[in-house]
Amino acid sequence: MAERMRWGVIGAGGIADRRTLPVIGQTRNGELVVVMDVRDPGAIGAKYGVDSTDRLEGVLSREDVDAVYVASPVQVHAEQVIAAANAGKHVLCEKPLGRTVAEACSMVDACCAAGVLLREAYMLRHHGLHLEMQRLIREGAIGKPLFASVHWAFQYPKMEGAWRQVRELGGGGALADLGCHVFDLLHMLVGDIARVAMASATLVQDYEVEDLGTVLLEFEGGAQGAITTSFCISDAVMPATVSIFGSEGRIVARGSLTQTSDGTATIYRETDGEQHEIRYGRVDTYVRQIEAFADDVAQGTIATKESVPELLSSMKVLEASYRSAETGTFVFI
Ligand SMILES: NC(=O)c1ccc[n+]([C@@H]2O[C@H](COP(=O)([O-])OP(=O)(O)OC[C@H]3O[C@@H](n4cnc5c(N)ncnc54)[C@H](O)[C@@H]3O)[C@@H](O)[C@H]2O)c1
Repeated sequence: MAERMRWGVIGAGGIADRRTLPVIGQTRNGELVVVMDVRDPGAIGAKYGVDSTDRLEGVLSREDVDAVYVASPVQVHAEQVIAAANAGKHVLCEKPLGRTVAEACSMVDACCAAGVLLREAYMLRHHGLHLEMQRLIREGAIGKPLFASVHWAFQYPKMEGAWRQVRELGGGGALADLGCHVFDLLHMLVGDIARVAMASATLVQDYEVEDLGTVLLEFEGGAQGAITTSFCISDAVMPATVSIFGSEGRIVARGSLTQTSDGTATIYRETDGEQHEIRYGRVDTYVRQIEAFADDVAQGTIATKESVPELLSSMKVLEASYRSAETGTFVFI
């Protein structure tokens, strides 16, 4: 690899254009080389001053591309990630990895076989506030973590061509879109999830996927949680909140489930009976995500059998949740 990781971006509209493409060149170890999109790639290439193509091969056959960021709709992640791995490219793939665990497994297998790194793009892991929450919880600041509660909602009315509103394309609705982030974050803050039970419904919007999904969680070790994701309640009505309650205190973060690296959090400890604001270093989570990926590749990290459980963890919880909603029972991960 060159000194700076040379990136190709596959699916260069949407989130890539809003958050990642503008910052790749600002990272300390990344450089944007080429963009690929099925819709007007020339305009995106011109916007960022790089080459463009409407063919996957137009990225994967280039020797000056070390890694790809896959930010296309979920239904094409598997074929694109497998093709990228086969071409020897490291892959940062947007969440959720695929529509099913089987799809995600095929992607992980291809990356392990090719000896390239695969990461799912959970930028919220890099949020300064979440890292500080993780540090405080690990230090025992709230005692033993016992219950996690997360709300994340926005209004997402029916739109022509919206792949997230079709189960076959997005793999699910509000839970697939938002819940996978939440599972990853709770994995980081509390630990592995052992079993889930989901209530799923489409109550307001005129499409087939759920616009309201609530999952009851049990972590390994017995802590519990409840998360609600919604496409039919506005953020003003149900502000995004992450609360972790422990045997000696609580941490509550507001507004941190965001693309803007914002948010505030307070910690309350029974020992002093007072609530304090949590301070944290602000970083652009998309910059950090690109930098961390390139750092890992530079250190020789690749997808291996040992990394499979971590890579599949959120996808497994997601699929188990949907299975639970269908069967009306708890499902073990
Ligand atoms: N982490 C985040 O902050 C975040 C936010 C939004 C979306 N996402 C994820 O990013 C991915 C894309 O979501 P989005 O909201 O940007 O979708 P989008 O539909 O807004 O944009 C997707 C882009 O991919 C292009 N595209 C469609 N089919 C393609 C193909 N076969 N090959 C290449 N490009 C293709 C489209 O033309 C479009 O430019 C999803 O996995 C989604 O879950 C992540």
